[in-house]
Amino acid sequence: MKTEVGLTAITIYLKDYQAPHYALEHTDLHVELLSDCAEVSATLRFKRAASAPKDAALTLLGADLELLSVAWNDQPLSADDWQWQGETWQFNGAGEGGVLSTKVRIYPDKNLALEGLYRSHGLYCTQCEAEGFRKITLFPDRPDVLSTFRTTIVADQASCPVLLSNGNCVASGKAENGRHFATWEDPHPKPSYLFALVAGDLAVLRDSFTTASGREVALEIYTAEVDQDKCDHAMRSLQTAMRWDEQRYGCEYDLDRYMIVAVSHFNMGAMENKGLNVFNTSCVLAHPATTTDAGFQRVEAVVAHEYFHNWSGNRVTCRDWFQLCLKEGFTVFRDQQFSAEQLSPVVQRLEDVAFLQTHQFAEDAGPLAHAVRPESFVEINNFYTLTIYEKGAEIARMLHTFLGAEGFRRGSDHYFKTYDGQAAIVEDFLSSMAIANGLAVDTFVCQWLRWYRQPGTPVVRVTSAWHADSKTLSLTLTQSQTSHAGVTPEPLPIPVRLGFIGETGELTTTLASVSASSHQLLLEKAEQTWHFSQVEQAPVLSLFRDFSAPVRVQAALSDEDLARLIRLDSNSFNRWSATYTLATREILALAEQYRRGDVRARQPQDSALAGALAAMWPALATSDPALASKLLQLPNLAYLSDQVSCYDPAALQRAREALLLQVLTPLEGSLQSILANEHMLTPYVYSAAAMAARSLEAVALDALARLQPEAAATMAQRWLSVAPHMSAEQAALTTLVHQQLPGADAAVQAFYARWQHEPLVLDQWFATQASAPHASARNTVEALLQHDDFDAAVPNRVRAVVGQFASNNPVAFHDMAGKGYDLLAQQLLLIDARNPQLASRLAGALGIWPKLDPARQACVLKTLDALLNESLSSDTRETLTRIRA
Ligand code: PHE
Ligand code: ZN
Repeated sequence: MKTEVGLTAITIYLKDYQAPHYALEHTDLHVELLSDCAEVSATLRFKRAASAPKDAALTLLGADLELLSVAWNDQPLSADDWQWQGETWQFNGAGEGGVLSTKVRIYPDKNLALEGLYRSHGLYCTQCEAEGFRKITLFPDRPDVLSTFRTTIVADQASCPVLLSNGNCVASGKAENGRHFATWEDPHPKPSYLFALVAGDLAVLRDSFTTASGREVALEIYTAEVDQDKCDHAMRSLQTAMRWDEQRYGCEYDLDRYMIVAVSHFNMGAMENKGLNVFNTSCVLAHPATTTDAGFQRVEAVVAHEYFHNWSGNRVTCRDWFQLCLKEGFTVFRDQQFSAEQLSPVVQRLEDVAFLQTHQFAEDAGPLAHAVRPESFVEINNFYTLTIYEKGAEIARMLHTFLGAEGFRRGSDHYFKTYDGQAAIVEDFLSSMAIANGLAVDTFVCQWLRWYRQPGTPVVRVTSAWHADSKTLSLTLTQSQTSHAGVTPEPLPIPVRLGFIGETGELTTTLASVSASSHQLLLEKAEQTWHFSQVEQAPVLSLFRDFSAPVRVQAALSDEDLARLIRLDSNSFNRWSATYTLATREILALAEQYRRGDVRARQPQDSALAGALAAMWPALATSDPALASKLLQLPNLAYLSDQVSCYDPAALQRAREALLLQVLTPLEGSLQSILANEHMLTPYVYSAAAMAARSLEAVALDALARLQPEAAATMAQRWLSVAPHMSAEQAALTTLVHQQLPGADAAVQAFYARWQHEPLVLDQWFATQASAPHASARNTVEALLQHDDFDAAVPNRVRAVVGQFASNNPVAFHDMAGKGYDLLAQQLLLIDARNPQLASRLAGALGIWPKLDPARQACVLKTLDALLNESLSSDTRETLTRIRA
């Protein structure tokens, strides 16, 4: 049932899932790290599954392995005893079970794809999710085969003093010829994708944590010696996350040690290997001098995310990779909840929502759209997507909203308890939620499963009528979805939280004899109507409070209605979302006006948004600086691109700048006095209040650059010269470069001179230039690619330049003549030859083509066709083929 696509690509279908014929009882690995290769000996104890046929074949997977020997129950086997086709290795004589011993040779130094065992700055490390373990040894490399592991690593003591693997270190000592060894035992059965091994010269920060039941856990963060001063924040975040998971989910840690290792070559953010997380340096290292506020927040969130996987992912894992959202969506929801409790809940929510609406909505509306639980894939690495992570998290959140915090906790308790040590599927998660809450399981699972099966963003249309004589309001909600190949959409369960805003504020209204200022409905049919009573005046509806469902809302709200929400809604999230809606509306109208050739200058009084903000923003800047700073960050081009049918970046950019000027002009005095506070120039403190003050000043500086460029330039220079931390330096540099203020070039040079020895700061330096919103940035990017510090082997650096250009600089990327696409295509070919996962991800930027005008569409299609004629990895070929289709 495997389908050949092209030459080698094979499509795998969820419907073809078959349970493994053999269980793996134990894995014993012996890894010799030698000067130019590694030799891996594996001893695997198999037992035939009761359900498997008597003559079942033992099927293992292997890729890029040099097979040195194979034995079954200590009897050597020869090549006639097995079949090896592609990655699949089969042996027919396994009977009831037995012990398979293999020895293979691999080449970590030549591994540039960063999957399997590879070296990063001399450090050996592994990345096994999703299918990397088969590049280390022949193995049933699938998530539903779990076993205990015992791993011995032998290496040169001088160059690799530190030898780590999962679990507990049970033996270590000297070996011959200046070598040494360490043996690790992991008592928790796990699938191979959670295996990890690290060997190298690392320094360590140690601390500890005492679990709720009183067990002492050693915490260790391993980094290069020079980075040891950047580990405190990650350690504090880890301890906070461990306590939080005990308190909120009753989840306690289950080994004596928890280790984090920082590596500079990594394809993703971090990896939750059991007891031995491997992190991209960018997600673990933080120091006020080198890390911005956003960087600090990211470290906290990723450390928590990987830690939370210990239960949602490791103790309960996934049966197959179609169920990826089971661990990722749920864990993202958990880390979002955690982050919301650390700093500002509203800011956390609106940032998560803006991210979803900007990037996931676009993915779901474009050629790469897929279900949260897809039915098929070619390359699983292509499915670590925004849909699986972010939309997956929104589904968990809707269940939380629908069942309530306590009901959701009952469900998660049931899930962790019932499936502990097992490989589960989405249905298991849903049925746990139903059973623990006494709901009809079949109906509940069938209904909620639709969210996992139906791609695309649903649309909810809202109509309402207020009757003055009876003081009642009828509300009708209609849901619709576009149908995707093979899936006929059925109505989804959609939680709707809403309130009513009168002329002077929140109204209390009654629904089914419950009087409240905020109600929660469940829209579960194609169309439903509700009747509210005691609605004393004509209200404006505050809909989908806190974004209670990941849908697009169509409601006939006038500019005045939106302005009322911005001023008076008690739900802060909805105040923000009303500014987004109104700003989008005004930007699109301006762009249309320019298109008609009407280029009259705009006054603040022409903008309802400017009026609403002028009335409330100065006071908000004092009472809630975090929210205030967000209200001035109008939707960016990526967000706007999803709101239009034909995307012209330059026109939208011009309209957006014009609206910004209208909005900021009346706030000038207020912005000046904010900047006079100079919180930015005080020593770094990681707290919600300090971060809000800094973020407000950064926004104010950026605003000032539009109103008084000279004054803003002077201030930015001052920040750069006396900055006590990177948050101030980065804000100043971004404003100078992005707004092309006087002195920008010199500042770029000086920043480089100061930070050239800090790779993560240098990434920011590259990214700031590559994302400067001007057509000229394409030339800058060409130059940056030639820079001595550009290194195509380091994914962080590639993303800082190529990724920023293609995904975060629409004005430069969408050059009319297609030069931006050419640049990307050239880079993709270079990158794909060594790192397919990285190239495939970057290629996703071309998925925007259906939104472009015909001329640009033609350019992208030409680029796609040219690329598809080249020799490509299966990862990148699948992505480009799906984009082209
Ligand atoms: N599982 C990791 C996470 O989300 C992401 C990852 C996937 C890392 C694949 C590496 C490879 O936490
Ligand atoms: Zn994850």
